[in-house]
Amino acid sequence: MLKILVLHGPNLNLLGLREPEIYGKTTLLDINKEMMEFAKKEGMDITIKQSNFEGELIQMIHEAMEDYDAIVFNPAAFTHTSIALRDAIAAVGVPVIEVHLSNIYKREAFRRHSYISEVSEGVISGFGKDSYLLGLKAAKNLLSKKVKK
Ligand code: DQA
Repeated sequence: MLKILVLHGPNLNLLGLREPEIYGKTTLLDINKEMMEFAKKEGMDITIKQSNFEGELIQMIHEAMEDYDAIVFNPAAFTHTSIALRDAIAAVGVPVIEVHLSNIYKREAFRRHSYISEVSEGVISGFGKDSYLLGLKAAKNLLSKKVKK
């Protein structure tokens, strides 16, 4: 069974309370529950983690090298700032699907650049909680293609 790590970056623990006009009223727990159900249907084994700390996220990416086939990652604000997270992804070579709840191209100019996209397989942005489900689906399709080669 495909093993996928889902990583939520900083401030995403506050979903539901945090700027609901942008991110909606759905909580992280709701999103996680929906992902677990989706993964079960799709026959994927997922582990979900959240951290507000850059170093901790780097550590989680390093550890993923051993245990996971792909990472579905919402780096949140670190998307736009973190060369260290970018380098961690490049170092481990585990395929990453970058996801965002909001459409980062439709907002402030500083959100339009992602350090993570340069080392991601692809980016899904702007579909609210569905961005995560689409990310899981993309990871599954991507890995099945890799196996076939
Ligand atoms: C976000 C977009 C980022 O620009 C922002 O800093 C976040 C969340 C999203 O999911 O839309 O915290 O990654």
